[in-house]
Amino acid sequence: MFRQSFIATAAIAVAVTGWAGVAQAKGKMTLYCSPQIEWCKLVVEAFEKETGIKVRMTRKSSGETFAQIKAESRNPKGDVWWGGTGDPHLQAAEEGLTQVYDSPMKSQLHGWALSQGKSANGKTIGIYAGALGFGYNSDILKKNNLPTPKCWADLTKPAFKGHVQMANPNSSGTAYTTLATIVQILGEDKGFDFMKALHKNINNYTKSGSAPIKAAARGENTVGIVFLHDAVKQTVKGFPIVSVAPCEGTGYEIGSMSIIKGARNLPEAKKFYDFVLGKAIQERAKEAGAYQVMSNKAAIPPKEAPKLETIKLIDYDFKKYGSSAERKRLLAKWDKEVKVLPK
Ligand code: G6P
Repeated sequence: MFRQSFIATAAIAVAVTGWAGVAQAKGKMTLYCSPQIEWCKLVVEAFEKETGIKVRMTRKSSGETFAQIKAESRNPKGDVWWGGTGDPHLQAAEEGLTQVYDSPMKSQLHGWALSQGKSANGKTIGIYAGALGFGYNSDILKKNNLPTPKCWADLTKPAFKGHVQMANPNSSGTAYTTLATIVQILGEDKGFDFMKALHKNINNYTKSGSAPIKAAARGENTVGIVFLHDAVKQTVKGFPIVSVAPCEGTGYEIGSMSIIKGARNLPEAKKFYDFVLGKAIQERAKEAGAYQVMSNKAAIPPKEAPKLETIKLIDYDFKKYGSSAERKRLLAKWDKEVKVLPK
């Protein structure tokens, strides 16, 4: 009897300690997420299921997240910044806001994903790529007798007054990529002339990069300057959205990931980092309507993903446009010379 109850007690004790031990090992972490919210949720759910680690996630645009990490740098609250355009990740690396991690998953990645890391001395890594362009609502275009836009220059035509939407480049990585792309295509002076002419046609500068094409899908806007995969997402959903890779050529993003300096949950952060670079989770992106090209070489791109090799891509200078001085300078110049102009 005594022996039996001792064994039973011991078994319960083992079970309890064992459970407590496992629960502790599972841990928690805080994720700052900058791609589409649907994709953020899918990844968090899959990671929690696989590891038992509890993730606290918030979605904010790339520029906003950069600003938040900078503001919190004395007392960091986030562990991983996943996604969003690469430029502010590079700026964060340069400003010492993120830290080096040499993931064992690196050997599985495309060269473009690794080169992003090299530019930041190992403090960031590419997770997806996508080309910039615009999309339009073909019903609204027809209703307004507007010509079919094919080039960046078309968007500055007076006929498009009030018909174009883009995000604010301070908050949005998509919009900063637009500004940097135009400057690279036209040169700085002509690039800013273009941004000023475009400003006259802009009906609203949104906070988030993909908002302009969502507005077009809802019939509240005609043309949205966005990443092409964000336009494709609306077409796949059944909205009359047509994607355009501009005739002059266009820029692209290397969506990136970084571990925040001073991360309180470093082992969990590293687990997350390795997990999202895997083939299996990258191939699931399409379930959330994320049609980017993925960084894992073995991940089969969704059939809906815009084919980057068929688009006239510029040789986007990530190092320069992701540098702290250049990003700050261009944004300040846009605020001072473009944003304030009357329409
Ligand atoms: C969308 C795109 C992502 C991009 C992100 C940037 O979610 O699908 O590829 O990285 O926008 O967001 P932001 O709001 O900073 O422009």
